[in-house]
Amino acid sequence: MKSFASDNTAGVHPDIMAALNTANQGHCSAYGDDPHTRAAIEVFEEHFGEEIAVFFVFLGTGANVLGLRALARPHEAVICAECAHINVDECGAPEAFNGSKLLAVPTTNGKLSCASIAPRLHGFGNEHHAQPKVVTITQATELGTVYGPAEIRSLASLAHGKKMYLHMDGARLANAAAHLGCRLGELTRDVGVDVLSFGGTKNGLMFGEAVVFLRPELAAGFQYLRKQGMQLASKMRFIASQFEALLKGDLWRRNAAHANAMAALLAEYLQGLDGVRITQKVETNVIFAQLAPHHIGILEKEYYFYRWDEARNEIRWMTAWDTSEQQVKAFANRVREVVSA
Ligand SMILES: Cc1ncc(COP(=O)(O)O)c(C=O)c1O
Repeated sequence: MKSFASDNTAGVHPDIMAALNTANQGHCSAYGDDPHTRAAIEVFEEHFGEEIAVFFVFLGTGANVLGLRALARPHEAVICAECAHINVDECGAPEAFNGSKLLAVPTTNGKLSCASIAPRLHGFGNEHHAQPKVVTITQATELGTVYGPAEIRSLASLAHGKKMYLHMDGARLANAAAHLGCRLGELTRDVGVDVLSFGGTKNGLMFGEAVVFLRPELAAGFQYLRKQGMQLASKMRFIASQFEALLKGDLWRRNAAHANAMAALLAEYLQGLDGVRITQKVETNVIFAQLAPHHIGILEKEYYFYRWDEARNEIRWMTAWDTSEQQVKAFANRVREVVSA
C-alpha cells in the first residue's frame, strides 16, 4: 500500500520489535508486576520527574477516556477543541463511559487559547449546568499544529485558577517536542499539565499508550478504573518493554523528527504549486491541503490518504517514522503531474 494516510498505517520500528523479542523470554508475573514494567516506569520518571504515576494501556482512546474519568465526575464538563480526537474520533466514548459533557470550542488551527475557552468558563455553582472541570488540549493538535510551552502554561494557570485541571492528549507529543527541540517534561509537567495520555503507537510501537499522572495524588484509585475500563493488560511486559526501548535513548525523538522532516519535505516540494493550497502550518508530520475534487479522485486511486473536510475539498497527508525521502519525492511528483495536467 502506498500510504500518506496516517502514522497508524506504518509498521513497527525494528528496535521495538527487538525489545518485544527480548521481553519474550520465559514466564514472568502478569498485570505489571514484572521487571519490564518497573524499568519502563523508571524511564518515564527520567523524562517527567519522579513524582509521577504511570499506567500502561492498550489504546489512545482508552488513555484519554480513563485519564479524563480520573479528573471529572459525570456532572462535570470537559472543554476541548471541536476537532479534538475525543470529540470526533472516539465514538462518543468519553460521554458514554464517563458521563461528562464535552464542551467543544471551534478553532481555526486546532489550538485552544485562554480567550477561546473563556465563554465556556461559566455556570460554576449552578446546579443546572454541567460544571467545567477539565480543559483538554491535544499536542500536537489534530491539525498538526503545536502549542508552545508558554501557551500551555497560560491554559494551565487559567484552569487551575478555576479549580480545574489541564489534561493533554499527547498521542503525538513526541512530534511536538521534536518540532520545538524541547524535552517531554518541558511541554507537560514544567508548564502545569496534570494528566497526560502519552502516545507510543504512532511513533513506532506495535501498540501501547500510557496515562501519566504528573500530580500522583490524582491517580488515587486509578488502578481500579483501568481494570474496570478494560485496559489492564495481563501480559503488560509487552507494552512496557516497547516504551522502555522508545524512551531509554532518543528513539522517540529520532522517529518523530524523521516523520516531521518528511512532512516538511513534502510541503517544500508542493509549495507554490497551482492547484494545491496548504491550509495549516506544517509543524509536525501532517499536511492539510485543498485540491480540486477530480484531482483528489485521481490521487486516491494510487495512494491511500484521508479526505479531511469534504465540503472544503481538504485532504490530509500524514508521514510516519518510516516514510522515505524517495516516497515523498515520488508522491510530490505525482501530485505535480496530476494538478498540472
Ligand atoms: C490525537 C489523537 N489522540 C488519540 C488517538 C488514539 O487513538 P486510538 O484509540 O486509535 O489508539 C489518536 C489516533 O488517531 C489521535 O490522533
